[in-house]
Amino acid sequence: MNTALYGIAKSAEMSQLKLTGIRKGYEGLIDGDMVQLHSNELKQWAHRGGTMLKTARSKRFLTLEGRKRALAVLQKNKVDALIAIGGDGTFKGLMAFSEICNLPFMGVPGTIDNDLAGTDYTLGFDSAVNTAIQNIDKIRDTAESHNRIFLIEVMGRDSGYIGITSGLGVAADSILVPESGEDFVRLLEKVRNYDSENAFLIVVSEGDELGAELVASKIKEINSKVDLRISKLGHVQRGGNPSAQDRMLGIRLGASAIKALLMGRKNAMVGVLNNQLCLTPFGQVVKQHQVNAELDELLNLFNV
Ligand code: F6P
Repeated sequence: MNTALYGIAKSAEMSQLKLTGIRKGYEGLIDGDMVQLHSNELKQWAHRGGTMLKTARSKRFLTLEGRKRALAVLQKNKVDALIAIGGDGTFKGLMAFSEICNLPFMGVPGTIDNDLAGTDYTLGFDSAVNTAIQNIDKIRDTAESHNRIFLIEVMGRDSGYIGITSGLGVAADSILVPESGEDFVRLLEKVRNYDSENAFLIVVSEGDELGAELVASKIKEINSKVDLRISKLGHVQRGGNPSAQDRMLGIRLGASAIKALLMGRKNAMVGVLNNQLCLTPFGQVVKQHQVNAELDELLNLFNV
């Protein structure tokens, strides 16, 4: 997100635009919590995780009253256009806001869950997967040494993108994600034949319908002797310096958000499809409930 801000600021300055940052997302918009942004300051943040503008989940923006207050803040500050960075909830908020506010809006996809239509990758996903992979590699060392089964839970809310990508990346023996119902049956078949002479890594997405604990107890029912541990990676996946891919994505999406606004485009999300920058109208930026067909095929192949 910080590299996206840097890309936005650099492009805005090239066109002599004044850039105001809104702190704490929609909460800060309602409260008028704003700060002037300059690329010179932002470049010191570009290599860092999190967001220098801070973020918040806003219940008030879900209400019409909250959105009206936000509109008044924008009018008072003579804002000409609004760029929002975020996931599904951010875009739903923008859609609702556009019903009472005529300013041009531009969205930038930012979520580790990678679950938005209109872009192949969302900001943060690649960094989160890299973190997951590095940590699971470390867990494998213990698993191999003790011949243990490890159930490793990764984030993603109800999306299995982090699960499949990190699971394939660490050569997991089984990958359980919300998008597939067959993965658990296959896992049980594998566990029946497990000889306790090797490591056995299971990557399970947090949104999987069973969850790590239940899967663990089912495995124990089949084979009570297995040495099994659960490890939840949690918020380490949301922090740390962004990967090279995320940094480039941020710069590209940030710069293209300004370019699109200057071209008179509005109420759309910038994204990258087949490595080409593109715009998708808000109405089509829906949450994805399926992973792409190629990943799904790989999942089925490697879960056997
Ligand atoms: O949606 C992004 C995400 O990181 C999910 O992957 C995760 O389930 C959730 O947010 C964590 O939210 P919180 O930090 O509020 O617990």
